[in-house]
Amino acid sequence: MAQVLWSGRLSATPDEEAFAFESSITVDQRLVLEDIEGSIAHVTMLGAQGIIPEEAAQKIGEELKRIAADITEGKLVIDTGVEDIHSFIEGVLTARLGDVGRMVHAGRSRNDQVAVDVRLYLKHHIPELQEELRQTGETLLSVAEQHLTTVMPGYTHLQRAQPVTLAHHLVAWAAGLERDRARFADALARIDECPLGSGALAGSTLPLDREATSRALGFRRPTINSMDSVADRDFALEVTSCCAITMVHLSRFCEDIILWATEEFGFIELAEQWSTGSSIMPQKKNPDFAELIRGKSGRVTGDLVTLLTLLKGLPYAYDRDLQEDKEALFDALDTLRASLRMFRGMLASARFRTERMARSCQGGFLEATDVAEYLVRRGLPFRRAHEVAAQVVRDCIAAGQRHIGERTLEQLRERSELFNEDIYEALSPRASVERRRTAGGPAPEEVQRQIGELRRRFSRKEG
Ligand code: ARG
Repeated sequence: MAQVLWSGRLSATPDEEAFAFESSITVDQRLVLEDIEGSIAHVTMLGAQGIIPEEAAQKIGEELKRIAADITEGKLVIDTGVEDIHSFIEGVLTARLGDVGRMVHAGRSRNDQVAVDVRLYLKHHIPELQEELRQTGETLLSVAEQHLTTVMPGYTHLQRAQPVTLAHHLVAWAAGLERDRARFADALARIDECPLGSGALAGSTLPLDREATSRALGFRRPTINSMDSVADRDFALEVTSCCAITMVHLSRFCEDIILWATEEFGFIELAEQWSTGSSIMPQKKNPDFAELIRGKSGRVTGDLVTLLTLLKGLPYAYDRDLQEDKEALFDALDTLRASLRMFRGMLASARFRTERMARSCQGGFLEATDVAEYLVRRGLPFRRAHEVAAQVVRDCIAAGQRHIGERTLEQLRERSELFNEDIYEALSPRASVERRRTAGGPAPEEVQRQIGELRRRFSRKEG
């Protein structure tokens, strides 16, 4: 049955269906502990400022703690027949304390209350997501460490381009996740302001101490403007955007994995518990987890678009439309968390088919750039060297050869006198990789350095 705590000037209430339509408790009930935390800070400040009697403040504070414990222990069940979590808690408090409970909402509106609840929730939960990111990054880095010398083709335009190592490829993914972690840290820095004390939009005539509530809740400082405080949803936008970017990263990694798991590539074998069969084709082993992560990235993009669209036409300050922010925000957080955990499990248990990777480096003339750079080292201008190497590739194709190493030194010298016996050392994928020692490059000791640097960054607190 719908329950209304206050109706103000209104004498009629919405019917059951209309009430369900405007209610948000099924979504915002997850803010319950933050809502209580915010109320305790508020009421303590009301007491300290002499706005309500100290004794009443103390009673309310204690009761709120009891309510939190009752909920955590399952002794108090959140009643979804109430409009939202703020009304539910105030209702329980009033039912338990009578008139004393009715003092809690002085100088406060659900508009600043919901803003502080969500900010607190994000302050609590973003570090957990950052830890998921760190662990996922660490999984990538430790698998990478086992494959520092595992050569594989690197692709551009999905065409074989130059030999790299599996480690280099996995560290490329980890580098993206490390930026994601830092992006969340940047968002957190702006979330870290307390809107409490802004009231409905215009502050209060009561002598609220906003510094005190901000401090008590662990915020860096109070927000600057009361209208902005209740209208602003940048925190939801930024965090959902961080989630969407990370999901797009995971989606691209999964796209690689899905390709690698095909018979055509054959670079990866996913563990059976991270694969699914087909209801009709008995032979199938499908990479459904990777596909689902790729699919869910679309949902999180949708969450971000939902929020941007929600906010676009809203007049200042608070509008009820803003209630719709939470479903998208929570969905983005939940989906990212689950996806990171699934991605990690799938990757850690996969087997890499290193012999197939090595074989794929043969036959596509991936060594052509090394030939050009060999000639550059011998003094030829790059554009000339590029032409010579291209000519050598053409010669190979014309002769039905699949690797530049199949040409004799004599044949190579027909194209440039600069070729020497040592060209052959430069041609193996392994040598090619080992020689590319530029910072960020695929040489094993260089990738090892990148791994160390990323580990250091992943364990940083700040951006
Ligand atoms: N459930 C509401 C929300 O999430 C709380 C604020 C309601 N404020 C109001 N003026 N009706 O936005």
